[in-house]
Amino acid sequence: MSTAHDTVLVVDFGAQYAQLIARRVREARVYSEIVPRTMPLEEMLAKRPSGIIFSGGPASVHVDDAPSIDAAVYDAGVPVLGICYGAQLVAQQLGGVVERTGGGEYGRTTMTRHGPSIVLAGLPEEQSVWMSHGDAISSVPDGFSATASSSGAPVAALEDRERAIFGVQFHPEVAHTERGQDVLRAFLFDVCGCDPTWTNTNIIEEGVAAIRAQVGGERVLCGLSGGVDSAVAAALVHRAVGDQLTCVFVDTGLLRLDEAEQVEDTFRRQFHVDLVHVKAADRFLDLLAGVTEPEDKRKIIGESFIRVFEEVARDHSDARFLVQGTLYPDIVESGGGDNATIKSHHNVGGLPDDMTFELVEPLRNLFKDEVRAIGEELGLPEDIVWRQPFPGPGLAVRIIGEVTPERLETLRQADAVVLAELRRAGLERQIWQSFAVLPAVRTVGVMGDGRTYEYPIIVRAVTSDDAMTADWARLPHEVLERIASRIINEVPGVNRVAYDITSKPPGTIEWE
Ligand code: XMP
Repeated sequence: MSTAHDTVLVVDFGAQYAQLIARRVREARVYSEIVPRTMPLEEMLAKRPSGIIFSGGPASVHVDDAPSIDAAVYDAGVPVLGICYGAQLVAQQLGGVVERTGGGEYGRTTMTRHGPSIVLAGLPEEQSVWMSHGDAISSVPDGFSATASSSGAPVAALEDRERAIFGVQFHPEVAHTERGQDVLRAFLFDVCGCDPTWTNTNIIEEGVAAIRAQVGGERVLCGLSGGVDSAVAAALVHRAVGDQLTCVFVDTGLLRLDEAEQVEDTFRRQFHVDLVHVKAADRFLDLLAGVTEPEDKRKIIGESFIRVFEEVARDHSDARFLVQGTLYPDIVESGGGDNATIKSHHNVGGLPDDMTFELVEPLRNLFKDEVRAIGEELGLPEDIVWRQPFPGPGLAVRIIGEVTPERLETLRQADAVVLAELRRAGLERQIWQSFAVLPAVRTVGVMGDGRTYEYPIIVRAVTSDDAMTADWARLPHEVLERIASRIINEVPGVNRVAYDITSKPPGTIEWE
């Protein structure tokens, strides 16, 4: 992205922390971009960075082919901050000593400061930091001073003020390092002299200008899923080009309670967006009749969705652009990063060849938390901005066995109780996903004086960062109790509630 903002590059030495570092830099209102360590130095410098941060990484500087960087970076006149592996690389490349300790230091530890420091300025003598390293820097290069130590790191921080090169063995980007953000801020503002211009207002203004420049006077289509990314993308494009935008919302009948109404309320009534609300529940349910195999359900729903969208798109054949809610992590993870390297003329998954759109991806430089923040700024309701991820096939993969209108109704009501109670307990935003599942077995119970033989509901709630792994949420017993009692009392046909305590792996988040 060409940007008028001060830019700090985060060189990725091993993925796990680079995105978090970039997010923390942006939280300080400084634009940051993640670049692969293999990017030639001239290309990095061509981005005119105000500072360069080396991320941590899993390797040891002692192994063959240890990830490295052109040492000319230290003479480029751009301040450098190495974190963990990045700090060890700085030390090693400039003539210090990195030792294999045989031990290592993992987790929270106490660090003690020594002497003056720019990046540790204002921090107490002793503080709690988070470490994760096997090797340790034992001797600093010429021109450097060691400014902190811990029990496992004789050099926990080093700096060469003259050349503006810094290293910290601890991870300032993780929340367990109490004053970590202060360390990053000192680097960004006191060393690099950055201006904190990466604000929501600027992100929106620049996004609007870029969309107008791309789209001109042409018409634009945007599929709304009900999720946060497509909603924020649509709101931003609407702010940019108003009536040139048509949003398409396909109601598959497999959505959660009140979701379709909320999309109508927000986009048609609040934002006055030209909204095509396709009520396709009957069509989807007809196709799903008698289908019980999870993958068959997915295939039917995915294909029908594309066909419905295609029909609407044909009715709007004057549209040249299609909005996609692609986010920055998708770009980083697919190895992209630069607009120029990504093809802009795409056929979108599943649409026929004679239907080509140019993509508008207004969120491609943003992290999820930034998307939420600008969603709020654009006036989207909290319920949409903070909505949990929801699978494309919707409630169909949470009903084991056949999907029927009656079973959908049961699940929808139980699901609404789960969400309402988590919201009431103030837990909704800490939970990655929480929902109800309706299995295909019946259980015996007793209610009043009578025997019941009805369906159980399984409650599932997980914490996660990215859905690749997940842990079952340790919900307070009182919350579980309220959920169970309300479901049994309020949802006809349910006589038992169970809580799923399977993590991922070995389980998946969804039941199908
Ligand atoms: P699993 O169940 O594989 O889910 O642990 C990981 C994440 O992906 C979502 N999910 C889907 N999303 N189409 C989607 O768009 C699907 O078919 C699908 N299956 C699962 C799931 O909700 C979780 O966030």
